[in-house]
Amino acid sequence: MIFRRKNKTTIDDRQIDLVDYARARIRQKKRLYFHLVSFLFVSLVLTILNIGLGYGVDIKPFGYPWVLSAALLWVVFLLLHFFQVYVTKRFMNPAWEKQQIKNLVGLQEARIEKIKRKLDKEASLIANAEWHKEKTNQSIQRITIIAAASTNHALGKDNKLIWHLSKDLQHFKKLTSGHAVIMGRKTFESMPRSLPNRTNIVITRQSDYKAENIKVASSISNALSIAKDDPRPFIIGGGEIYKESMKIADEIELTRVHATFEADTYFPEINPHQWEEVWREEHPADETHAHAFTFLRYQKK
Ligand SMILES: NC(=O)c1ccc[n+]([C@@H]2O[C@H](COP(=O)([O-])OP(=O)(O)OC[C@H]3O[C@@H](n4cnc5c(N)ncnc54)[C@H](OP(=O)(O)O)[C@@H]3O)[C@@H](O)[C@H]2O)c1
Repeated sequence: MIFRRKNKTTIDDRQIDLVDYARARIRQKKRLYFHLVSFLFVSLVLTILNIGLGYGVDIKPFGYPWVLSAALLWVVFLLLHFFQVYVTKRFMNPAWEKQQIKNLVGLQEARIEKIKRKLDKEASLIANAEWHKEKTNQSIQRITIIAAASTNHALGKDNKLIWHLSKDLQHFKKLTSGHAVIMGRKTFESMPRSLPNRTNIVITRQSDYKAENIKVASSISNALSIAKDDPRPFIIGGGEIYKESMKIADEIELTRVHATFEADTYFPEINPHQWEEVWREEHPADETHAHAFTFLRYQKK
């Protein structure tokens, strides 16, 4: 802030502070001098009254004339006043107060900075822990696609399976029992009921979809989060859901049926650059199985 005077000289804040301080000091010293003069004058009058004219000569606190006690008491106040003007107010002036405030503010700012650093450190530790937790959950969950597809990749027709292979059904049951089975709404509706001993999760875009013994999911990732406690959730079809989950799956349990069929739903291509066959088991056709088939296991490279 800058004040402009009539003679055009400028006085900045620092100079104004100094002028104000000088004025205050003059006032303090004037009051002290007035106090001293008053003391001398009143002491003189009281001495004349007490000793000169004999007023209250009988009153002698501690054996001395009362005027002496009064004067001594006053001297104490006078000394206190003197001390205040020449010591307290001199050294604890506005500049000293400002410095004290500055020190306190500096101290508080340093504390705030320290707390901030601590909070930042804690926030990054929490974020790190969350990241590790998520990573660990992802890595311990083995997402497995399970399907039966013919040589020409057929899966089904008119929302039904095309073949009946009891060994394949047993294989499916053995692998999936006790796990979460994730399926598209159409696959669920192609079955007579939900699969027993498994957590049935049905994916649909219908927000009000309901059926007995199922959990409804709005997407594959939502279905996987519902199945988060299962270390090996199975994606059991159909065509749309298989196609969408090839990117996130870790494993494919495929039954390859050695025949070609007319179909309306197909299994996606298994890219040999991305998937490695790790296990197979051949099953020839027999009196209860109209087609030969192979159980295959692929793992993502
Ligand atoms: N051979 C096998 O191993 C096997 C296994 C299973 C099924 N199948 C056959 O496959 C056929 C059914 O397969 P499909 O491809 O037609 O249907 P699907 O994949 O079973 O289900 C498709 C439905 O899932 C829901 N959906 C798909 N993607 C979604 C997403 N991203 N977000 C939310 N909802 C989503 C939609 O339901 P809404 O329309 O309700 O929104 C969609 O209509 C049947 O013939 C069945 O027999 C064969």
